[in-house]
Amino acid sequence: MDRRKFLTRTSVAAGALFANPMTGLASNISGKIKKRKFALVGTGIRGVTMFGRDLMKEYSQYVEMVGLCDTNPGRLKFAKEFIGVDCPVFTSLEEMIKKQKPEALIVTTEDSAHHEVIIKGMEMGCDIITEKPLTIDEDKAQLILDAEKRTGRKIIVTFNYRYPPYRAKMKELIKSGLIGDINTVDFHWNIDHSHLTRYMQRWHGDSKRGGTLWVHKSTHHFDMVNWFLDSEPKEVFAYGSLDRFGKNGKFRGENCRNCQHTAKCPYYWDINKDSMSKSLYADNEKYDGYVRDNCVFRNEIDIFEKHSAVVKYMNGAVLNYSLTGDTDFEGYWIAFNGTKGRLEARIEGYPEKTFAEMTFTPIDRYSDEKPKIFRVDYARGGHWGGDPLMMDKIFKDPTMPDPLRQQATLRDGVMSILAGIAARMSVDSGKPVEIKGLTTLVPQNVIS
Ligand SMILES: NC(=O)c1ccc[n+]([C@@H]2O[C@H](COP(=O)([O-])OP(=O)(O)OC[C@H]3O[C@@H](n4cnc5c(N)ncnc54)[C@H](O)[C@@H]3O)[C@@H](O)[C@H]2O)c1
Repeated sequence: MDRRKFLTRTSVAAGALFANPMTGLASNISGKIKKRKFALVGTGIRGVTMFGRDLMKEYSQYVEMVGLCDTNPGRLKFAKEFIGVDCPVFTSLEEMIKKQKPEALIVTTEDSAHHEVIIKGMEMGCDIITEKPLTIDEDKAQLILDAEKRTGRKIIVTFNYRYPPYRAKMKELIKSGLIGDINTVDFHWNIDHSHLTRYMQRWHGDSKRGGTLWVHKSTHHFDMVNWFLDSEPKEVFAYGSLDRFGKNGKFRGENCRNCQHTAKCPYYWDINKDSMSKSLYADNEKYDGYVRDNCVFRNEIDIFEKHSAVVKYMNGAVLNYSLTGDTDFEGYWIAFNGTKGRLEARIEGYPEKTFAEMTFTPIDRYSDEKPKIFRVDYARGGHWGGDPLMMDKIFKDPTMPDPLRQQATLRDGVMSILAGIAARMSVDSGKPVEIKGLTTLVPQNVIS
């Protein structure tokens, strides 16, 4: 056997014996799957649903939940019942890791706490599966990069937006060379009022806690473009404004529940009529003062509703991007203009339709070749069918082939937030901002 084959075979065999939660499945002697030990940090709505109840419902054959951690003891109590697990709960992350020894942490805290949990977890020997955004500023991103280097632990960022089947198809078509080299990308994302209101009511309205929607929300979009282009952002120029919410409101109350303006406020919402939100948040406010139904017109809101950016990529492509929150439309439109043609998709919200379409128009407009339509069926499940596919790869079979590189790494997490952080800086300074120099990661022309 030659040396290369020997190394390949022995490392596969070693992998099966000493499986790491991020890279492989392990079997015990009786051939049964050895469950991997995970702990959930952050038992808010995302934590208890997708990475709590749904995870245990669909993947308990592969996964053992060994602990739940949150800074709010009331939310923890609710989470344990809602998820239906009998593991211990902790308000101290350190204590949980010491006692329960999870192999990996699932991080679903609010954005501004991600870095603390990720770094502490890695230093105490855990791998990390973290929700987006990786973190909210470049200094915290650097701390995470340093910790990864120091500890050798692995991080997966759960970019579920890479997984819907028609986005995979789009990636496949681009990769196949159908549209040639991409010159420009037009990408416009709209969030409707009820969606934007949910951000304005919560910690997302405070830039120190969510990094503004340039980071909290656009991290998904910049990641998609980085992934589609297989390149990284070089420079960003941006505008942003807050015109409707925050200090622009003509009246304001303490919070929605006890506001004297409910009759005239288009955003009035009674949290006590929403049993899930009441149990998770309102009933547990006494522990930490987390208010879920803050006034959307509070003076402290310092994020934007309108976001427009131009992003130059290392491979020469230019992205024209917007995130608009001041229309009552939910959906997006994306087009790639390449040397051989244009690929375009327009998607409305989370539609009732069973399929989505993409149009390819060849570059030569005198040719009698008609635009070609690609139709892709939606898969069942959250975020246009992307969530279950991502969960299968992480929790069911981490060795599953990943030819389109849908599983996002730490580098992907950093590059996607840096585009948003640079946009935020550009809004403040009125000048273009380079990605190089924000962290020690130097952007690359081609990622893979
Ligand atoms: N990928 C997606 O499509 C998607 C969708 C929704 C939310 N998310 C992400 O999931 C995360 C959670 O969002 P959410 O809507 O559930 O928020 P949430 O406010 O409902 O929950 C956050 C929880 O974190 C807890 N927390 C705060 N600091 C903590 C700390 N230091 N240690 C432990 N717990 C702490 C809070 O008490 C709260 O229970 C966010 O990062 C968000 O961006 C991703």
